[in-house]
Formats: sequence, structure tokens, C-alpha cells
Amino acid sequence: MSAQPIAVFDSGLGGLSVVRHLRRQLPDEPIVYFGDTARVPYGTKSKHTVVGFALDCARYLLRFDPKIVVAACNTASAVAIPELDAALPVPVLGVVEPGAAAAARHAQGHPVAVIGTEATIGSGAYLRAIQSHDPTLAVDAIACPLFVPLVEEGRDSDDPLVTLTVKDYLQPLRDDDVRVVVLGCTHYPLLRDAIAGFLGGRVRIIDSGEETAIRVQATLAERDALSRTSGRGSIRSFVSDNPERFERVGSRFLNEPIDHVELVEPDEYAWSAAQHS
Ligand code: DGL
Repeated sequence: MSAQPIAVFDSGLGGLSVVRHLRRQLPDEPIVYFGDTARVPYGTKSKHTVVGFALDCARYLLRFDPKIVVAACNTASAVAIPELDAALPVPVLGVVEPGAAAAARHAQGHPVAVIGTEATIGSGAYLRAIQSHDPTLAVDAIACPLFVPLVEEGRDSDDPLVTLTVKDYLQPLRDDDVRVVVLGCTHYPLLRDAIAGFLGGRVRIIDSGEETAIRVQATLAERDALSRTSGRGSIRSFVSDNPERFERVGSRFLNEPIDHVELVEPDEYAWSAAQHS
């Protein structure tokens, strides 16, 4: 049981920001990652499409006999967890619930904010999850679609374009005296300094990926499914397009060099497309 990998999927390379925390939290675990780089972004697509893609990604990963499947993509986590739960024979964990739980824990009655893609914010998933922990909390939810391309282009927190965009999107959070902000997208942790700098020291930033890594550890411990072999942690990465770009851009998200990324052909993962054609 414990030699089985943790399977992680994302719309592309952003999920490596979640794997970064899994590696830190669970250094002995084998991880297998699928990035759907052929069909990224998910954050601008409909629920129907994202559910189909998320099922494709997860089903592809089942061939590795994982002990748990982690939906690292916030958009997929926001819209597809019930379908993934129903379809998969192993436990499924998304990033929304761990991030929401941490936000509710730290809010102390103050308004909470969530930032994410259009689809994540439009789904209302974070709002529901936060209020399931504390129905009295006010929740600001703001879509920040420009953050994803800025990060993928290599812009970082001190870039003037980032500073300007952060100010433009997040000014309402300052006005509302928000004290907790959830980074509800895989890419936003790479802009953490700009976001924290703009909102000021009183605001606590929650990284959903970090919270998810803690939850994965707890879930595996509960099931007595943690790896018992120390020093054997590893990552195998598979993508549906452009492995070279994944290696080059992805290492900033993972904070480790990435090598040997394997390309997966559409007939191995794209069942939903075949069903709809
Ligand atoms: N991984 C996505 C998320 O966390 C961001 C990129 C996309 O739109 O696919 O929502």
C-alpha cells in the first residue's frame, strides 16, 4: 500500500506549486503528476468542459495505481470534486476545502477574501466552503485573470506590471478591511510578495496548496498509507503537450529542476473529447 504514489493533476504546470508543498511535507512519497498542457487554461472554460477534462486527467493517473488523487487545479477543485469522487475508486482531495478551512480558522470574524480564476470565482465554491465552516463570515471573491499569464511570462512580484495589476484587482479588499486572503489559484503563490506588500502586514495570506499538502498527509496517516521508505521521494511528470516548456517554466513553480517529462498522446487521456465529438 505505502509504495503506491500520490497522483496529482492540474490544467498545466501551475499544480507544481502544490507539489512543491507536497515534497516539503511528504519528502518520502513517490508523486506522479499529469499536466493537461494541451487544454490549459481551465479557468476560462465552462463547468461542463472542466468536469470532463478533470475526469480525463484523473482517469489517466489511475494506471499508476495511486493511493490518493489530488486535484491541484483550483478550477477543477471548484467544479469537479463530486464527479471525481463518484468516478474514482481512490480518495480524491481538492485544494478548495483545505484553503477554505484555513481561511475560516484565521478570520476571527473579519471579512475573508478569495482570489482565483473566472471559473473558480464564478462557481462560488470557496464562498460555500468558507461559510460551511462559519456561516457568519463575509466573503469577497475576486477573479484576477491577468495573474496567470503574468506569472507564466516570468513576471515576478517586483515587476511594475504586476504591481499595477495587483493594485487594480485588489483595491476593494483594502477598502473592505479584509484580514485573510486565500490564494485560490495555482499561480498566485508566485505573486505572494506583491499581494502581501499591497495589502499590508495585518492581512494573512493563505496558500491553498500548502494547506492541501497538510491535508494529504493527515488523510494518508489516517489510512495508514504513508510511505515507509525514507529517502525514496520522487516525481514523475506527464503532460499532454510541450514537455520542454513544462520543464523550463515549471521549475519556478516547483522550486526544483525538472527533467524527463513524458508526453502523453490524446488517445491516452482525452476520453471526454471523444465522447463529445
Ligand atoms: N491551474 C488553474 C487554477 O488553479 C490556473 C490555470 C488555468 O486557468 O488553467 O485554477
